[in-house]
Amino acid sequence: MEPIRSIKGTQDLLPQSSYRWQFAENKIKAISETYGYREIRTPVFESTQLFKRGIGELTDVVSKEMYTFDDRGGTSLTLRPEMTASVMRAWIQNNLGQEGGVQKMYYIGSMFRAENVQKGRLRQFHQWGIELVGSPAPVADAEVIMLMIRTLESFGLKSLKLKINSVGDENCRPVYKEILKDYLRPHFDQLCKTCQGRFETNPMRILDCKNETCKTLIHQAPVITDHLNDECKTHFESVKNLLTAAGIGFEIDPFLVRGLDYYTKTAFEVVSDDLGSQNAVGGGGRYDLLVEQLGGKPTPSVGFAIGIERLLIILEERKLLEDVKPKAPVLFVAAFAQPHIEAMIPIVQQLRGLGIQTEIELLGRSIKAQMREADRLGAQFVVVVGDNEMAQKSVSLKNMKTGDQQQLSFDQLVEFLSGSHE
Ligand code: HAM
Repeated sequence: MEPIRSIKGTQDLLPQSSYRWQFAENKIKAISETYGYREIRTPVFESTQLFKRGIGELTDVVSKEMYTFDDRGGTSLTLRPEMTASVMRAWIQNNLGQEGGVQKMYYIGSMFRAENVQKGRLRQFHQWGIELVGSPAPVADAEVIMLMIRTLESFGLKSLKLKINSVGDENCRPVYKEILKDYLRPHFDQLCKTCQGRFETNPMRILDCKNETCKTLIHQAPVITDHLNDECKTHFESVKNLLTAAGIGFEIDPFLVRGLDYYTKTAFEVVSDDLGSQNAVGGGGRYDLLVEQLGGKPTPSVGFAIGIERLLIILEERKLLEDVKPKAPVLFVAAFAQPHIEAMIPIVQQLRGLGIQTEIELLGRSIKAQMREADRLGAQFVVVVGDNEMAQKSVSLKNMKTGDQQQLSFDQLVEFLSGSHE
Protein backbone atom coordinates (compact mmCIF):
# COMPACT_ATOMS: atom_id res chain seq x y z
CA MET A 1 0.00 0.00 0.00
CA GLU A 2 1.24 3.52 -0.82
CA PRO A 3 2.06 5.43 2.37
CA ILE A 4 0.00 8.60 2.80
CA ARG A 5 2.01 11.80 2.61
CA SER A 6 1.49 15.24 4.13
CA ILE A 7 -0.10 18.04 2.10
CA LYS A 8 2.16 20.27 0.00
CA GLY A 9 3.12 23.42 1.86
CA THR A 10 2.73 21.86 5.32
CA GLN A 11 5.57 20.71 7.53
CA ASP A 12 6.06 18.18 10.29
CA LEU A 13 7.88 19.53 13.29
CA LEU A 14 9.96 16.54 14.31
CA PRO A 15 11.36 15.80 17.79
CA GLN A 16 14.85 16.23 16.30
CA SER A 17 14.25 19.95 15.77
CA SER A 18 11.27 20.91 17.94
CA TYR A 19 13.64 22.20 20.64
CA ARG A 20 14.60 25.04 18.31
CA TRP A 21 10.99 26.08 17.99
CA GLN A 22 10.55 25.80 21.74
CA PHE A 23 13.61 27.98 22.25
CA ALA A 24 12.21 30.64 19.88
CA GLU A 25 8.70 30.47 21.30
CA ASN A 26 9.84 30.63 24.92
CA LYS A 27 11.94 33.68 24.20
CA ILE A 28 9.09 35.34 22.30
CA LYS A 29 6.63 34.66 25.12
CA ALA A 30 9.01 35.95 27.78
CA ILE A 31 9.71 39.18 25.86
CA SER A 32 6.02 39.77 25.02
CA GLU A 33 5.22 39.43 28.71
CA THR A 34 8.05 41.78 29.70
CA TYR A 35 6.37 44.42 27.54
CA GLY A 36 3.04 43.71 29.27
CA TYR A 37 1.32 41.66 26.54
CA ARG A 38 -0.91 38.75 27.52
CA GLU A 39 -1.64 35.73 25.39
CA ILE A 40 -4.85 35.36 23.40
CA ARG A 41 -5.89 32.17 21.60
CA THR A 42 -8.71 32.14 19.11
CA PRO A 43 -10.21 29.33 16.99
CA VAL A 44 -8.33 28.12 13.93
CA PHE A 45 -11.49 28.53 11.82
CA GLU A 46 -13.93 31.41 11.70
CA SER A 47 -16.86 32.45 9.56
CA THR A 48 -15.63 33.39 6.08
CA GLN A 49 -17.38 36.72 6.43
CA LEU A 50 -14.96 37.80 9.16
CA PHE A 51 -11.96 37.74 6.82
CA LYS A 52 -13.87 39.15 3.85
CA ARG A 53 -14.96 42.12 5.93
CA GLY A 54 -11.79 42.48 7.97
CA ILE A 55 -9.00 41.91 5.44
CA GLY A 56 -10.84 43.10 2.31
CA GLU A 57 -12.46 41.07 -0.49
CA LEU A 58 -10.08 42.40 -3.13
CA THR A 59 -6.85 41.44 -1.39
CA ASP A 60 -4.89 38.43 -2.73
CA VAL A 61 -5.24 36.80 0.67
CA VAL A 62 -9.05 36.83 0.57
CA SER A 63 -9.67 36.51 -3.17
CA LYS A 64 -7.11 33.78 -3.93
CA GLU A 65 -5.51 32.25 -0.87
CA MET A 66 -8.13 31.27 1.65
CA TYR A 67 -8.99 27.71 2.63
CA THR A 68 -12.76 28.08 2.60
CA PHE A 69 -15.29 25.27 2.93
CA ASP A 70 -18.91 24.73 3.88
CA ASP A 71 -19.55 22.83 7.09
CA ARG A 72 -22.27 20.17 7.20
CA GLY A 73 -24.92 22.79 7.93
CA GLY A 74 -23.88 24.84 4.88
CA THR A 75 -22.11 27.63 6.81
CA SER A 76 -19.06 28.98 5.00
CA LEU A 77 -15.96 28.63 7.19
CA THR A 78 -12.35 29.63 6.58
CA LEU A 79 -9.08 28.51 8.14
CA ARG A 80 -7.58 31.75 9.45
CA PRO A 81 -5.09 33.30 7.02
CA GLU A 82 -3.97 35.75 9.74
CA MET A 83 -5.11 36.57 13.25
CA THR A 84 -5.70 40.31 13.55
CA ALA A 85 -9.30 39.96 12.33
CA SER A 86 -9.89 37.04 14.72
CA VAL A 87 -8.39 38.89 17.69
CA MET A 88 -10.55 41.93 17.04
CA ARG A 89 -13.63 39.72 16.59
CA ALA A 90 -12.87 38.20 20.00
CA TRP A 91 -12.23 41.64 21.47
CA ILE A 92 -15.64 42.90 20.35
CA GLN A 93 -17.50 39.71 21.24
CA ASN A 94 -16.03 39.55 24.75
CA ASN A 95 -16.42 43.27 25.47
CA LEU A 96 -12.74 43.62 26.23
CA GLY A 97 -13.11 47.36 25.64
CA GLN A 98 -15.12 47.55 28.87
CA GLU A 99 -11.95 47.15 30.90
CA GLY A 100 -10.91 50.60 29.65
CA GLY A 101 -7.38 51.71 28.78
CA VAL A 102 -5.48 49.68 26.25
CA GLN A 103 -5.42 45.92 25.77
CA LYS A 104 -2.08 44.42 24.89
CA MET A 105 -2.29 40.93 23.43
CA TYR A 106 0.06 38.44 21.79
CA TYR A 107 -0.41 35.12 20.04
CA ILE A 108 1.55 32.29 18.50
CA GLY A 109 -0.36 30.07 16.12
CA SER A 110 -0.87 28.40 12.75
CA MET A 111 -2.17 30.39 9.79
CA PHE A 112 -3.27 29.03 6.43
CA ARG A 113 -2.83 30.53 2.97
CA ALA A 114 -3.07 28.63 -0.33
CA GLU A 115 0.05 30.23 -1.82
CA ASN A 116 2.64 28.95 -4.28
CA VAL A 117 5.06 27.08 -2.10
CA GLN A 118 8.70 28.18 -2.00
CA LYS A 119 11.45 28.91 0.52
CA GLY A 120 9.81 30.64 3.47
CA ARG A 121 6.38 30.47 1.88
CA LEU A 122 4.14 27.71 3.15
CA ARG A 123 0.46 26.89 3.17
CA GLN A 124 0.37 26.24 6.89
CA PHE A 125 2.77 28.56 8.68
CA HIS A 126 3.12 30.10 12.11
CA GLN A 127 3.06 33.65 13.32
CA TRP A 128 3.94 35.43 16.49
CA GLY A 129 1.66 38.44 16.59
CA ILE A 130 1.14 41.48 18.77
CA GLU A 131 -1.99 43.65 18.95
CA LEU A 132 -2.09 46.87 20.96
CA VAL A 133 -5.75 47.85 21.04
CA GLY A 134 -7.26 51.20 22.01
CA SER A 135 -4.53 53.81 21.54
CA PRO A 136 -4.39 56.37 18.72
CA ALA A 137 -1.05 57.75 19.95
CA PRO A 138 2.16 57.51 17.89
CA VAL A 139 3.91 56.08 20.96
CA ALA A 140 1.76 52.97 20.54
CA ASP A 141 3.11 52.49 16.99
CA ALA A 142 6.63 53.05 18.31
CA GLU A 143 6.12 50.59 21.16
CA VAL A 144 5.13 47.70 18.90
CA ILE A 145 7.96 48.46 16.48
CA MET A 146 10.44 48.61 19.38
CA LEU A 147 9.14 45.29 20.67
CA MET A 148 9.54 43.72 17.22
CA ILE A 149 13.06 45.02 16.64
CA ARG A 150 14.33 44.36 20.16
CA THR A 151 13.02 40.80 20.00
CA LEU A 152 14.79 40.15 16.71
CA GLU A 153 17.95 41.65 18.20
CA SER A 154 17.68 39.47 21.27
CA PHE A 155 18.08 36.46 18.96
CA GLY A 156 21.33 38.01 17.78
CA LEU A 157 19.79 39.36 14.58
CA LYS A 158 21.39 42.61 13.63
CA SER A 159 21.32 44.44 10.31
CA LEU A 160 17.76 43.60 9.42
CA LYS A 161 16.10 46.38 7.51
CA LEU A 162 13.05 48.14 9.01
CA LYS A 163 10.96 49.84 6.34
CA ILE A 164 8.21 52.24 7.33
CA ASN A 165 5.57 54.18 5.49
CA SER A 166 2.31 55.95 6.13
CA VAL A 167 -0.60 54.72 4.03
CA GLY A 168 -2.79 57.65 5.07
CA ASP A 169 -6.32 57.47 6.39
CA GLU A 170 -9.88 57.46 5.04
CA ASN A 171 -9.58 61.17 4.21
CA CYS A 172 -6.26 61.50 2.42
CA ARG A 173 -5.87 58.05 0.89
CA PRO A 174 -8.81 58.32 -1.57
CA VAL A 175 -7.37 61.64 -2.80
CA TYR A 176 -3.92 60.06 -3.28
CA LYS A 177 -5.43 57.06 -5.10
CA GLU A 178 -6.93 59.43 -7.68
CA ILE A 179 -3.59 61.22 -8.08
CA LEU A 180 -1.87 57.86 -8.57
CA LYS A 181 -4.50 56.76 -11.10
CA ASP A 182 -4.13 60.03 -13.02
CA TYR A 183 -0.40 59.36 -13.23
CA LEU A 184 -0.82 55.73 -14.32
CA ARG A 185 -3.75 56.19 -16.72
CA PRO A 186 -1.64 57.16 -19.78
CA HIS A 187 0.51 54.03 -19.16
CA PHE A 188 -2.40 51.68 -18.51
CA ASP A 189 -1.59 49.43 -21.51
CA GLN A 190 1.98 48.92 -20.26
CA LEU A 191 0.85 47.64 -16.85
CA CYS A 192 0.84 43.87 -16.31
CA LYS A 193 -2.54 42.11 -16.46
CA THR A 194 -2.76 41.86 -12.66
CA CYS A 195 -2.09 45.57 -12.22
CA GLN A 196 -4.61 46.47 -14.93
CA GLY A 197 -7.12 44.60 -12.78
CA ARG A 198 -5.93 46.51 -9.68
CA PHE A 199 -6.14 49.91 -11.39
CA GLU A 200 -9.74 50.66 -10.41
CA THR A 201 -10.10 48.50 -7.33
CA ASN A 202 -6.79 48.77 -5.49
CA PRO A 203 -4.34 51.05 -7.34
CA MET A 204 -1.92 51.24 -4.39
CA ARG A 205 -1.15 47.52 -4.77
CA ILE A 206 0.47 48.43 -8.13
CA LEU A 207 3.18 50.12 -6.06
CA ASP A 208 4.65 46.83 -4.92
CA CYS A 209 4.23 44.84 -8.14
CA LYS A 210 7.30 42.72 -8.93
CA ASN A 211 6.85 43.01 -12.74
CA GLU A 212 9.79 44.93 -14.27
CA THR A 213 7.68 47.25 -16.50
CA CYS A 214 5.32 48.10 -13.64
CA LYS A 215 8.35 48.73 -11.40
CA THR A 216 9.84 51.18 -13.91
CA LEU A 217 6.55 53.04 -14.25
CA ILE A 218 6.11 53.21 -10.52
CA HIS A 219 9.57 54.59 -10.00
CA GLN A 220 8.44 58.08 -11.03
CA ALA A 221 4.94 57.84 -9.51
CA PRO A 222 3.67 60.38 -6.98
CA VAL A 223 4.19 59.03 -3.45
CA ILE A 224 1.65 58.99 -0.66
CA THR A 225 4.02 60.61 1.83
CA ASP A 226 3.70 63.82 -0.26
CA HIS A 227 -0.07 63.67 -0.06
CA LEU A 228 -0.82 62.96 3.59
CA ASN A 229 -3.22 65.25 5.42
CA ASP A 230 -1.97 67.16 8.46
CA GLU A 231 -3.11 64.57 10.95
CA CYS A 232 -1.39 61.67 9.17
CA LYS A 233 1.70 63.75 8.52
CA THR A 234 2.05 64.78 12.19
CA HIS A 235 1.44 61.20 13.29
CA PHE A 236 4.11 59.88 10.93
CA GLU A 237 6.63 62.52 12.05
CA SER A 238 6.04 61.60 15.71
CA VAL A 239 6.50 57.89 15.05
CA LYS A 240 9.79 58.59 13.27
CA ASN A 241 10.97 60.84 16.13
CA LEU A 242 10.11 58.20 18.70
CA LEU A 243 11.96 55.50 16.78
CA THR A 244 14.99 57.74 16.52
CA ALA A 245 14.80 58.40 20.26
CA ALA A 246 14.70 54.63 20.81
CA GLY A 247 17.84 54.23 18.70
CA ILE A 248 16.01 52.21 16.05
CA GLY A 249 17.20 52.67 12.49
CA PHE A 250 14.63 52.70 9.69
CA GLU A 251 14.21 53.45 6.03
CA ILE A 252 11.19 55.30 4.69
CA ASP A 253 9.71 53.35 1.82
CA PRO A 254 6.78 55.19 0.22
CA PHE A 255 6.15 52.11 -1.95
CA LEU A 256 5.49 49.89 1.04
CA VAL A 257 1.86 48.83 0.79
CA ARG A 258 0.78 45.88 2.83
CA GLY A 259 -1.27 42.99 1.45
CA LEU A 260 -4.16 43.49 3.87
CA ASP A 261 -6.64 46.33 3.44
CA TYR A 262 -7.19 47.33 7.06
CA TYR A 263 -4.11 49.50 7.52
CA THR A 264 -4.28 53.23 8.20
CA LYS A 265 -1.37 55.61 8.84
CA THR A 266 1.74 53.64 9.86
CA ALA A 267 2.73 50.51 7.91
CA PHE A 268 6.04 48.71 8.41
CA GLU A 269 8.00 45.62 7.48
CA VAL A 270 11.26 44.02 8.51
CA VAL A 271 13.11 42.43 5.61
CA SER A 272 16.18 40.24 5.35
CA ASP A 273 18.38 39.23 2.42
CA ASP A 274 18.64 35.72 3.85
CA LEU A 275 15.11 34.95 2.74
CA GLY A 276 15.30 35.28 -1.04
CA SER A 277 12.27 36.71 -2.80
CA GLN A 278 9.98 36.21 0.23
CA ASN A 279 12.08 38.68 2.14
CA ALA A 280 9.68 39.89 4.85
CA VAL A 281 10.32 38.44 8.28
CA GLY A 282 7.45 40.39 9.71
CA GLY A 283 5.14 43.26 9.11
CA GLY A 284 2.34 45.25 10.58
CA GLY A 285 0.84 48.64 11.06
CA ARG A 286 -1.98 50.69 12.47
CA TYR A 287 -5.55 49.67 11.78
CA ASP A 288 -7.83 52.35 13.23
CA LEU A 289 -10.97 51.39 11.29
CA LEU A 290 -10.98 47.60 11.60
CA VAL A 291 -13.05 47.35 14.78
CA GLU A 292 -15.80 49.47 13.26
CA GLN A 293 -15.70 47.40 10.08
CA LEU A 294 -16.31 44.35 12.24
CA GLY A 295 -19.25 45.97 14.03
CA GLY A 296 -17.55 47.41 17.13
CA LYS A 297 -17.03 50.96 18.39
CA PRO A 298 -14.18 52.99 16.84
CA THR A 299 -10.99 51.66 18.43
CA PRO A 300 -7.60 52.75 17.11
CA SER A 301 -5.09 49.90 17.22
CA VAL A 302 -1.71 48.81 15.98
CA GLY A 303 0.16 45.51 15.72
CA PHE A 304 2.46 43.23 13.76
CA ALA A 305 3.20 39.59 13.05
CA ILE A 306 6.45 37.75 12.47
CA GLY A 307 6.61 34.49 10.52
CA ILE A 308 8.24 31.93 12.80
CA GLU A 309 9.44 29.68 9.94
CA ARG A 310 11.12 32.71 8.34
CA LEU A 311 12.65 33.75 11.65
CA LEU A 312 14.12 30.26 12.09
CA ILE A 313 15.43 30.18 8.50
CA ILE A 314 17.40 33.35 9.18
CA LEU A 315 18.62 32.18 12.57
CA GLU A 316 19.82 28.91 11.04
CA GLU A 317 21.49 30.58 8.07
CA ARG A 318 23.31 32.98 10.36
CA LYS A 319 24.29 30.07 12.63
CA LEU A 320 22.63 31.68 15.63
CA LEU A 321 21.14 28.46 16.92
CA GLU A 322 24.36 26.48 17.28
CA ASP A 323 24.37 26.82 21.07
CA VAL A 324 20.75 25.80 21.41
CA LYS A 325 20.73 22.13 22.30
CA PRO A 326 17.94 19.69 23.09
CA LYS A 327 17.72 18.65 26.73
CA ALA A 328 19.82 15.55 27.35
CA PRO A 329 19.29 13.06 30.18
CA VAL A 330 21.20 13.66 33.41
CA LEU A 331 21.25 9.94 34.16
CA PHE A 332 20.94 6.80 32.07
CA VAL A 333 20.23 3.67 34.10
CA ALA A 334 21.67 0.61 32.38
CA ALA A 335 20.56 -2.74 33.75
CA PHE A 336 21.53 -6.38 33.18
CA ALA A 337 18.05 -7.85 33.60
CA GLN A 338 14.46 -7.26 34.64
CA PRO A 339 15.02 -7.58 38.47
CA HIS A 340 17.69 -4.86 38.29
CA ILE A 341 15.30 -2.57 36.48
CA GLU A 342 12.67 -3.24 39.14
CA ALA A 343 15.19 -2.35 41.87
CA MET A 344 15.95 0.96 40.19
CA ILE A 345 12.39 2.02 39.34
CA PRO A 346 11.75 3.80 42.70
CA ILE A 347 14.98 5.78 42.27
CA VAL A 348 14.15 6.68 38.68
CA GLN A 349 10.74 7.88 39.86
CA GLN A 350 12.30 9.89 42.67
CA LEU A 351 14.77 11.57 40.31
CA ARG A 352 12.08 12.39 37.75
CA GLY A 353 9.93 13.77 40.56
CA LEU A 354 12.79 16.16 41.32
CA GLY A 355 12.81 17.31 37.71
CA ILE A 356 15.99 15.40 36.84
CA GLN A 357 15.77 13.94 33.34
CA THR A 358 16.37 10.22 33.78
CA GLU A 359 16.28 7.37 31.28
CA ILE A 360 16.04 3.67 31.97
CA GLU A 361 16.75 0.92 29.45
CA LEU A 362 13.54 0.03 27.62
CA LEU A 363 14.70 -2.64 25.20
CA GLY A 364 16.65 -5.13 27.35
CA ARG A 365 19.77 -4.72 25.22
CA SER A 366 23.32 -5.80 26.05
CA ILE A 367 25.20 -3.51 28.47
CA LYS A 368 27.46 -2.47 25.60
CA ALA A 369 24.46 -1.43 23.49
CA GLN A 370 22.96 0.40 26.47
CA MET A 371 26.19 2.36 26.95
CA ARG A 372 26.10 3.29 23.27
CA GLU A 373 22.52 4.47 23.70
CA ALA A 374 23.45 6.59 26.75
CA ASP A 375 26.18 8.15 24.67
CA ARG A 376 23.86 8.78 21.71
CA LEU A 377 21.37 10.52 24.02
CA GLY A 378 24.15 12.66 25.48
CA ALA A 379 23.54 11.49 29.08
CA GLN A 380 25.76 13.19 31.66
CA PHE A 381 25.99 10.15 33.93
CA VAL A 382 25.42 6.41 33.66
CA VAL A 383 24.99 3.69 36.26
CA VAL A 384 25.15 -0.01 35.44
CA VAL A 385 23.01 -2.11 37.74
CA GLY A 386 23.51 -5.84 38.30
CA ASP A 387 23.24 -8.35 41.17
CA ASN A 388 25.93 -6.69 43.32
CA GLU A 389 24.51 -3.20 43.00
CA MET A 390 21.05 -4.52 43.81
CA ALA A 391 22.26 -6.39 46.89
CA GLN A 392 24.38 -3.53 48.25
CA LYS A 393 21.94 -0.79 47.25
CA SER A 394 24.82 1.15 45.78
CA VAL A 395 26.05 1.99 42.29
CA SER A 396 29.15 3.17 40.51
CA LEU A 397 28.21 6.49 38.86
CA LYS A 398 30.13 7.17 35.69
CA ASN A 399 30.62 10.72 34.43
CA MET A 400 30.36 10.34 30.66
CA LYS A 401 32.43 13.44 29.93
CA THR A 402 35.40 12.78 32.21
CA GLY A 403 35.14 9.00 32.57
CA ASP A 404 35.39 9.41 36.39
CA GLN A 405 33.57 6.86 38.51
CA GLN A 406 32.35 7.14 42.08
CA GLN A 407 30.65 4.70 44.40
CA LEU A 408 27.35 5.97 45.82
CA SER A 409 24.54 4.45 47.85
CA PHE A 410 21.07 4.83 46.28
CA ASP A 411 20.32 7.73 48.66
CA GLN A 412 23.64 9.42 47.92
CA LEU A 413 22.96 9.03 44.20
CA VAL A 414 19.74 11.04 44.48
CA GLU A 415 21.41 13.64 46.66
CA PHE A 416 24.40 13.95 44.34
CA LEU A 417 22.34 14.30 41.17
CA SER A 418 19.97 16.86 42.69
CA GLY A 419 22.98 19.05 43.34
CA SER A 420 25.00 18.44 40.23
CA HIS A 421 22.82 18.36 37.14
CA GLU A 422 23.41 21.17 34.67
P1 HAM B 1 1.42 39.59 6.94
O1 HAM B 1 2.43 40.54 6.42
O2 HAM B 1 0.41 39.06 6.00
O3 HAM B 1 0.71 40.35 8.14
O4 HAM B 1 2.15 38.38 7.63
C1 HAM B 1 3.13 38.60 8.62
C2 HAM B 1 4.29 37.64 8.45
O5 HAM B 1 3.83 36.29 8.38
C3 HAM B 1 5.06 37.82 7.14
O6 HAM B 1 5.99 38.88 7.23
C4 HAM B 1 5.75 36.47 7.03
O7 HAM B 1 6.91 36.43 7.85
C5 HAM B 1 4.72 35.53 7.58
N1 HAM B 1 4.00 34.88 6.47
C6 HAM B 1 2.97 35.36 5.75
N2 HAM B 1 2.58 34.48 4.81
C7 HAM B 1 3.39 33.41 4.94
C8 HAM B 1 3.50 32.15 4.26
N3 HAM B 1 2.67 31.81 3.27
N4 HAM B 1 4.46 31.30 4.65
C9 HAM B 1 5.31 31.61 5.66
N5 HAM B 1 5.25 32.77 6.35
C10 HAM B 1 4.30 33.66 6.00
C11 HAM B 1 -0.30 39.82 8.89
O8 HAM B 1 -0.64 38.66 8.85
C12 HAM B 1 -0.93 40.82 9.84
N6 HAM B 1 -2.03 40.13 10.57
C13 HAM B 1 0.08 41.41 10.79
C14 HAM B 1 -0.51 42.40 11.73
C15 HAM B 1 -0.82 42.21 13.02
N7 HAM B 1 -0.88 43.63 11.41
C16 HAM B 1 -1.40 44.22 12.49
N8 HAM B 1 -1.39 43.34 13.48
